[in-house]
Amino acid sequence: MPYSTEANLTDLAVERWSNIPDARLRKIMTSLVKHLHGWIRDIEPTEAEWMAGIEFLTETGKLCNKKRQEFILLSDTLGVSMLVDAINHRLSSKATPTTVTGPFHIHGSPEIADGESMSGDAPGIPCFVEGKVMDFDGKPVANAVLDVWQTDGEGMYEAQIDVDGAYMRGIYHSNADGTYLVRTVAPIAYTIPLDGTVGTLFNQTNISPYRPAHIHFLIDAPGYHRIITHLFEKGDKYIETDVVYGVKEPLIVEFQYKKAGEKAPNGEIMNEPFYIVHYDFTLQKLAQAKAA
Ligand code: BEZ
Ligand code: FE
Repeated sequence: MPYSTEANLTDLAVERWSNIPDARLRKIMTSLVKHLHGWIRDIEPTEAEWMAGIEFLTETGKLCNKKRQEFILLSDTLGVSMLVDAINHRLSSKATPTTVTGPFHIHGSPEIADGESMSGDAPGIPCFVEGKVMDFDGKPVANAVLDVWQTDGEGMYEAQIDVDGAYMRGIYHSNADGTYLVRTVAPIAYTIPLDGTVGTLFNQTNISPYRPAHIHFLIDAPGYHRIITHLFEKGDKYIETDVVYGVKEPLIVEFQYKKAGEKAPNGEIMNEPFYIVHYDFTLQKLAQAKAA
C-alpha cells in the first residue's frame, strides 16, 4: 500500500472503508468519505476554520437533550430533512404529499371529539379546519387518526412555554363518511429557535429564519400509507421562503376569514371573527404503486 499524499488520500481512505463486511455500512461510509473529501478539496479550509467547524458541531451536540434537538434543526435548515422525507415517501401525485415532521410533535396527545376544541384558552383567532379523509377514488376513509399540532396565535408551541397539560395538540378521528372537524385557533408564522448554534450560523447570513403559518397533521389509517404533513396558509409572507423547505403547492390552503355573526361549520353563530379552512386529505393504499 502506498503512503499518503494529498493526491492519493481520498483513494486510500475509500479503499480502506471498502473492505468492511456489512454491505449497507460499506456503501454509506465509502460515499461519505468520497463526498467529505470532495468538500474539503473544494473549500480548502485553514486549520482555524476546520477547528471552528469541529467546535460548531461540538456545541450543537451539547445543546441536544430530550426536549431539544439542534442537529435535527441543522438538518432541517440545510434541506436535508425534506430530502430524506422525499426519498422515503415517493407517493403518487394523487396522494396528499408529506412534509417535514419538525421538532414539536409530542406523542400521546389527548383524544378530542369531532368538532371539539384542541386550543382551550390559547390566544388566537378561532379557526375551524374541516374536510374529508378519502382514497384515490374519493371513497371515505373512516376512523382515520388525525394527530394535529401547531402553534397558538402568538407563535408558541407547547414545548416553548410553561404550561400544564396538553397545549395546541389533539387526536381526532374521521367519521364514517370520512369527514373531520378540528376546532383550534389560527397559527401564525414563527422563527425557528435562534438561541443555539443554528441561530449563530443564521445570524451570519441573510437567510430568513421564518416558517410560514401552518398546522401539522399525522394521518394514519390501516391499509394506507401513513402521512405526516402540514397545511400552510395561502398568502403568508414567508410561503416562498420557508426556512426548512417544507412547503409543497398542494398543501397551501385558503384560511377563509369570517365576520362575527357568521355560522361556523359546527353550526355555532360566532360572536367574534374566525377562519374556516377546508382540506380533503387523500391517502394512498399500501398496495398502490407510486405511478398509480
Ligand atoms: C416546525 O414545523 O415546527 C419546525 C420544523 C423544522 C424546524 C423547526 C420547526
Ligand atoms: Fe411547525
